[in-house]
Amino acid sequence: MEKKLQELKEYISSYPDFPKPGILFRDMFSLLRNPNAFKDLRDVMVEISKRNIPDAQAVVGLESRGFLFGSVLAIELGLPFVPIRKPGKLPGELNKVTYQLEYGTDTFEIQKDAVTPGLKVLLVDDLLATGGSLKAGCQLIEESGGVVAGCLVIMELVDLRGRDKISQPVFSLLEF
Ligand code: PRP
Ligand code: MG
Repeated sequence: MEKKLQELKEYISSYPDFPKPGILFRDMFSLLRNPNAFKDLRDVMVEISKRNIPDAQAVVGLESRGFLFGSVLAIELGLPFVPIRKPGKLPGELNKVTYQLEYGTDTFEIQKDAVTPGLKVLLVDDLLATGGSLKAGCQLIEESGGVVAGCLVIMELVDLRGRDKISQPVFSLLEF
């Protein structure tokens, strides 16, 4: 597994000064361009989820890049996939959470009927940076009556210490 993760890391391209000067952007789409690497990534996601979050009853993905990995994982684990979306995109009765960005705030929404009381959730996103998005996702699930059994992210920017904001277990595959 360690060797496979090391190989997968090589597929992540880095772009200096994007989207702003001083930011080194890690682009996971370069990995998705390689079908074998994407399959290996899928296998690792499945193995880590089964080992660490065996009691998950649903996979929740954060819009938008969390959808790519969350939906693959949901199919492989045979679990429902539930989206958390940015505002104004979901129909029906919704729960919402507003969270802090570097500049200003944003809102996440989830459909109320997607989270039954006590539902054990595996929350998925592509990247853990400052942790603001993942923390807001956890808050929304728990305010909706669910339980975050664990979070899975593909990449973690460890220096930003985003995981310190999250009280639920966080598993990351590729550390930068
Ligand atoms: C990016 C990334 C994570 C989040 C991580 O999403 O996909 O969701 O930021 O940052 P944080 O840990 O500091 O919150 P973004 O909102 O840029 O958009 P996208 O997923 O829709 O591309
Ligand atoms: Mg995102």
